[in-house]
Amino acid sequence: MCGIVGYVGERSALDVVMGGLRRLEYRGYDSGGVALINDGKITSAKKAGKLVNLDKELQAHPLPLSHTGIGHTRWATHGAPNDRNAHPHLDADGRIAVVHNGIIENFAELRAKLEAAGHEMLSDTDTETVAHLLHDELLHTPDLSDAVRAVCLQLEGAFTLVIADANHPDVVVGARRNSPLVVGRGKGENFLGSDVSAFIDYTRDAIELGQDQVVTITPEDIVVTDFHGNQVETRDYHVDWDVSAAEKGGYDWFMLKEIAEQPQAVADTLLGRYSAEGSLQLDEMRLSDEELREVDKIIVIACGTAMYAGLVAKYAIEHWTRIPCEVELASEFRYRDPIIDRSTLVVAISQSGETMDTLMAVRYAREQHARVLSICNTNGSTIPRESDAVIYTHAGPEVAVASTKGFLSQIVACYLLGLYLAQVRGMKYGDEIARIMTQLEQLPEAIQRMLDEGEHVRELARELSASKSILFLGRHAGYPVALEGALKLKELAYIHAEGFAAGELKHGPIALIEDGLPVFVVVPPKGRDQLRDKVVSNIQEVRARGALTIVLAEDDDEEVAKYADRLIRLPKVPTLFQPLVATVPLQIFACEFAAELGHDVDQPRNLAKSVTVE
Ligand code: F6R
Repeated sequence: MCGIVGYVGERSALDVVMGGLRRLEYRGYDSGGVALINDGKITSAKKAGKLVNLDKELQAHPLPLSHTGIGHTRWATHGAPNDRNAHPHLDADGRIAVVHNGIIENFAELRAKLEAAGHEMLSDTDTETVAHLLHDELLHTPDLSDAVRAVCLQLEGAFTLVIADANHPDVVVGARRNSPLVVGRGKGENFLGSDVSAFIDYTRDAIELGQDQVVTITPEDIVVTDFHGNQVETRDYHVDWDVSAAEKGGYDWFMLKEIAEQPQAVADTLLGRYSAEGSLQLDEMRLSDEELREVDKIIVIACGTAMYAGLVAKYAIEHWTRIPCEVELASEFRYRDPIIDRSTLVVAISQSGETMDTLMAVRYAREQHARVLSICNTNGSTIPRESDAVIYTHAGPEVAVASTKGFLSQIVACYLLGLYLAQVRGMKYGDEIARIMTQLEQLPEAIQRMLDEGEHVRELARELSASKSILFLGRHAGYPVALEGALKLKELAYIHAEGFAAGELKHGPIALIEDGLPVFVVVPPKGRDQLRDKVVSNIQEVRARGALTIVLAEDDDEEVAKYADRLIRLPKVPTLFQPLVATVPLQIFACEFAAELGHDVDQPRNLAKSVTVE
């Protein structure tokens, strides 16, 4: 939610900031804006809508050259997505410019006080109050960083702030509580960004910023303190992917590129986990084997697609470890007084590592003394930093708002966790783990086959693109696949799409079936005959009521082909791993369907990639 950039150095600040905003646009695209310091003054430009509108504005009204600047791309919370509410927001003198990600929860109270003291607000945002508070603070505090710290102590809620002050031309100050901010370390220049993609063109050396910290960057220096001005130790890290990973590389959409990267993402997530001595190793596991042996319950918490990865994980983890595993929406978890204690392992799954609902659930779990392990794709992000252990997925940057390679690599990381638990608790012999690992290592090839056969699915998407409603059915590990297929279609094509457990259909949803309604059905592998036969009956039930059945079934499942109006063939893989191959055609279908309708596949309406508000 909202992308933020800050720069000081020798380059054109506008070029750096706009480049960073383009890479961060996935975080929100309700408006864009920049502020630069030039000749002791702030100049700024802002425009509602995608960054292309800001580009046009800057061409029509160019800003003077500057070497210090900040920028923002917005996902609206307070105030409509119009020019007036676009960031940066300035104080009354036009001296201070502020960009913000998050929600300042006590803003109404702060605004009322400021207005009573004579401040005139020009927008409906919570952010503008910060510019005015800074204005007042700087009347008696000469140092910008001191003023920012003093203001932060008055704010409640979640915020990342980046601030430029016309009176401090070589300085940009950032602050964070709950929302993300990373620092890019350059030579004679430094950067701030919501994530490292903001400055990946210039440096791969980054610094994690902790909770309740303020960072002051100048061309030569980076100083980090807490909100009380005490200098704090920082942790540097090197980003292990480069610019090309954050670009489209010849694909029309980031989503298509990311779908195509899935064999690699799965292979990289598996890489180096299985030792020559025949045992699993999870390097980032900061929980001892002793602690893992004490676990008597697992609760997976996550949102959206990541939650569906958790639903797949439940089948594997319970099957391999015999530890009860619940899966819960992170946004619901802490409001139901869950029964957790030291022997509960809470597994937080998050591609971004910044999802606020998941982060708050992690904090709640730790307060209740549960052990928290996160599965995350973003090095240095908040959720893994606040967890007891982390398994990183190695999917590379995911830019398209709709998660694809993130999902598959999360499932793989969950499998690794399940196998690791089975290993340390003595639930699986080494040769069983070796056999399962071999099966896992064959999956990239099976996923590649689904990609190679994608044209057939694209044709289907074009054929069905006039549909106003599409259903997805699955059982067992196929059920989360159905949910994920429906979510992808909803978020990209803006049509009614629902995923159901196939057996539930007769308890109500079957009433939705009418002539010609497309229904996707994920059929379990033939080895699982009881399960598979039930799904085959479900296909017949919907077909008898006029549905157009699109059946995803294994290569040699000839019987089911009879009931398929359209057939998508799946390679033979174990039941627990079928989601990794069956999801791919559903991703391709949603992507092509949305493109056919003329939608922006990478940036669907009303959405943002990192949901950093609750
Ligand atoms: C859907 C999608 C979202 C995310 C969810 C969690 O395509 O991308 O549902 O999965 O917002 O995001 P992370 O994994 O970053 O916590």
